[in-house]
Amino acid sequence: MWAFLTDRLSVNPLGDLTSETGIWTLRFLCLTLAITPLRRITGWNAIVRFRRMIGLFAFFYGSLHFLTYMLVDRLAGLVEFPGGLVSIETIRRLAASIAGDIAGDRPFITIGFTALALLLPLALTSTTGMIRRLGRKWQALHRLVYVSACLGVVHYWWLVKADISRPRYYALAVGALLGFRAWWSRRRRSRTPARTPAAHPRRMPESQRHTM
Ligand code: HEM
Repeated sequence: MWAFLTDRLSVNPLGDLTSETGIWTLRFLCLTLAITPLRRITGWNAIVRFRRMIGLFAFFYGSLHFLTYMLVDRLAGLVEFPGGLVSIETIRRLAASIAGDIAGDRPFITIGFTALALLLPLALTSTTGMIRRLGRKWQALHRLVYVSACLGVVHYWWLVKADISRPRYYALAVGALLGFRAWWSRRRRSRTPARTPAAHPRRMPESQRHTM
């Protein structure tokens, strides 16, 4: 919208839309990953409230990006539209064209699709009810965002033809954010004293406690 309003669209505005939504998906993924390091460094715990919203923005932009790809890249590439633009046959051909492209010889498409598919279970389980229901499994599931961000960078790196400077910045950002996490958890583990059985005797189950 900003590029449109400031007359900075290229000769291929629909292509611009695919690029812009792609880059914003990656930016929102980086912002999501930045929340925890920022919280750890500054102690600003309230910032965690924004993590879900930013993560959902990443999914939203990823979906828009996929939608523009469907329209600009795939629908526009169909030679014929039997029964019109919105007909069962056109939709069937479009789906076949997308599936063929994902499984085809453009690896950046396969990687991009995987990155977006990994965000779907995260978006679906982002509600407070699901967080409560899944408990510790929720945290494990939401680590998929690390894989998605890495795949997003690979997708970007793979699709640029000559100048890799921009994907390199994103690779460095994602690498630094994930590196911080790894460093922090190792530091925390090394600082936590190992529990000895004598210091922390195992609690007996409630059912057995009264039988002695
Ligand atoms: C988390 C998921 C994804 C991320 C982070 C992502 C990111 C990006 C980025 C950063 C760009 C380049 C923007 C630029 O040129 O400045 C891009 C372009 C593109 N992406 Fe994605 N993408 C994702 C998913 C997908 C999916 C699911 C598809 C289609 C199946 C797709 C298809 C494309 C296409 C066709 C382009 C334009 C390629 C070109 O300019 O030749 N992406 N994406």
